[in-house]
Amino acid sequence: MTEAAIAAAARRLARAHRVAVLTGAGISAESGVPTFRDTQRGLWAQFDPMQLASREGFAADPALVWRWYAWRRELVAGAQPNAGHLALAPAAARFAQFDLITQNVDGLHARAGSRNVLELHGNLLRSKCFAQCGTFVAEPRQLPPGEPPRCPRCGNWLRPDVVWFGEMLDPDVLDAAQQAAVDCDAMLVVGTSGLVTPAAGLPAAAKRAGATVVVVNPNESELDDVADHLIRGPAAAVLPSLFPS
Ligand code: OAD
Repeated sequence: MTEAAIAAAARRLARAHRVAVLTGAGISAESGVPTFRDTQRGLWAQFDPMQLASREGFAADPALVWRWYAWRRELVAGAQPNAGHLALAPAAARFAQFDLITQNVDGLHARAGSRNVLELHGNLLRSKCFAQCGTFVAEPRQLPPGEPPRCPRCGNWLRPDVVWFGEMLDPDVLDAAQQAAVDCDAMLVVGTSGLVTPAAGLPAAAKRAGATVVVVNPNESELDDVADHLIRGPAAAVLPSLFPS
C-alpha cells in the first residue's frame, strides 16, 4: 500500500514544474533531533513551552532559557542530515521553481545542501537582541552555557533568533512561503503535525490554488485531510523514493 502510494506520488512530482516543500520536526527525527509533540520524547512533553519559548519566560529567567537553547544547539551540532534532507537538496534542480519552507530551526536542510531555505521559525544558530534594537548575531556553535551574552550594540540580552509563542513570523519569509504555496503545482508536506499556524495553513492554500498535495508522515496529522497522496512512512525512507535518480 505504501509502496503504491509512494510510486503514485513520485509520478505526480515528476510531472510538476513548480514544487513547494513544507517540512516540520519529523524530517529531523531520524537525525536524532526530538520533535515537539511526541507524547513521550517530544520537547513539549518534557519542557514547559511558556517558560522556554516565550518573551515572558525569557524575561523571568534568561539564564535558564539560554541554557536550554545551548543544549539544543549542541544536540543539533552533533546531528547529521539524514536521507530525507539529502534527497531534497538535489531535487531542487529538477524543477523550474522549487521552494523549501521549513518550520525547523536546526539548520539541517542547509547542511544537506539546500539553498534559500525559507525558515519560518528562525534558526537556533543565530541570536538577536531581546530589546529589539535590530541586532542579529551569527553564533559560534559551542557557546558556553550560563548567562546569555549581551547585545554588542545596546547591551541588552541576546536571545535565540527563533519564533516564540505569541510572536509574529518574519513577514518577508512568511510572504515568500505563502507565495510559494499559491504558485506551486505540487506541494510536498513532510513531518509536521499541522497544529501550528500560519505554517499549517500553507498546504490548504496550495490546494485551493490548484496544487496536488503529498503528505509524508508515519502517523496521523491534521493535514491528512488535505492530502491527495497520503504516505504513511518515515521521511528518511520515503523521500529518496519520491525523487528517484
Ligand atoms: P510536531 O512535533 O508538532 O510534529 C512532528 C510530526 O512529525 C508528527 O506529525 C509526527 O508524526 C511526525 N514524525 C515523527 N517522526 C517522523 C519521521 N521519521 N518522518 C516523518 N514524520 C515524522 O512538530 P512540528 O509540526 O514541526 O515551533 O511543530 C510545529 C512547530 O511547533 C515547531 O516549529 C515549533 C513547535 O512549537 C516553534 O518553535 C516556533
